[in-house]
Amino acid sequence: MIPKIIILFTVLAVVAARRSYQGYKVYEVLQETVNQAKFLHQLEQSNDSIDFWHLSKQLNDRARVMVPPGAQPAFIADLMRNGFQFSVLIDNVESTIQNNAAVASRKPIPIENSILHKYLRHSDINSYLDELANKYASHVSVVEIGKSYEGRPLKTITINENANNPVILLDAGIHAREWIAPATALYAINQLVEHATNNKNVLSNLTWVILPVVNPDGYEYSHEQERLWRKTRKPSGRCSGTDGNRNFDFHWGEVGASSSACSETYRGDTAFSEPETQAVRDALLKLKGRCKFYLTLHSYGNYLLYPWGWTRTLPDGWREIDEVAQAGAAAIKKATGSRYTVGSSTNVLYAAAGGSDDWAFAEAKVPISIIMELPGGGSQGFNPPASAIERSVKESWIGIKAMALKVAQKY
Ligand code: ARG
Ligand code: ZN
Repeated sequence: MIPKIIILFTVLAVVAARRSYQGYKVYEVLQETVNQAKFLHQLEQSNDSIDFWHLSKQLNDRARVMVPPGAQPAFIADLMRNGFQFSVLIDNVESTIQNNAAVASRKPIPIENSILHKYLRHSDINSYLDELANKYASHVSVVEIGKSYEGRPLKTITINENANNPVILLDAGIHAREWIAPATALYAINQLVEHATNNKNVLSNLTWVILPVVNPDGYEYSHEQERLWRKTRKPSGRCSGTDGNRNFDFHWGEVGASSSACSETYRGDTAFSEPETQAVRDALLKLKGRCKFYLTLHSYGNYLLYPWGWTRTLPDGWREIDEVAQAGAAAIKKATGSRYTVGSSTNVLYAAAGGSDDWAFAEAKVPISIIMELPGGGSQGFNPPASAIERSVKESWIGIKAMALKVAQKY
């Protein structure tokens, strides 16, 4: 019997340890000139305390920037000095966090129901994969492809294995705070396994390999400690974590990635310094020649992006990728009216080297490599509130299926 008082103190300690976003604001900043766009990019590179939730090089686009209270006066002075028009999108980030935390609790309800209504924890996600592998042993299997830095098993689920099929490798959650991405991967798994009859067209001649959480340490940390944590968790000097999507060994660190360990876009001590990116690398290499479609889920912004992420030049074969991405965007538009922007990462957003999409395309020779930036939570914060998971994942699945179908037609 554990005395109640100890339980109480433990609960208090956990609550107290959670990082507060009290007084943090998110600004929307309109970039009307080339110089203003440049200014924001420089700020993103040089200031580790402010966090760009969205930034592109398009003129008349609005950057979204989270700024802690202490940095707000200087930030606003900077904006004024450079003639920016700006407004406050989220007045107090902490209030959006608490809303999400309340519904992300750990009540034991059947997993299939909770997929649509909760952001599941990593251990529950892995249990679900194992449960499916047991229940559908003839065509579903689970493999541990590595362990995270903190020792969490990185599990892929393989659906409909057949050596003659082209393979789709779908991953999610390389960025910890983008919770809607693992939720979407989980819904895809649920549909492909437990509702196979509704999804025959993307099962009959395709094999799916899905890694729903690339970065479970960061994912759990974003649940327990800092809701807006993005990176992995391995320490580097006085800061922790590497941006997994800057850690792949292709033009590593050349552009749009930081060499400062405290930056949100830290490229890592070396390319593939993280066990999590190594695991994705090895999974892709194992499927070399067979994998025709690498789809990596992120949030947010409604983008379908493809190589290159490191240069504005387009790679040979980009038209094929564009066709697949356009099919996804069109299917979503038709189903719900939601719009996606399609294009190469560098041209549509900004240059950032070391992404998994570029590496999969260039080094693992996956001909169709796409990053899908799922919808966000608007003024609510980084992700849709839990009450909007169902609508979001169902919409995204329509786009993913349309892209898979296009790939199946091609290969
Ligand atoms: N929001 C994503 C990120 O910052 C975009 C990555 C696009 N791909 C790339 N290789 N740069 O990681
Ligand atoms: Zn991301």
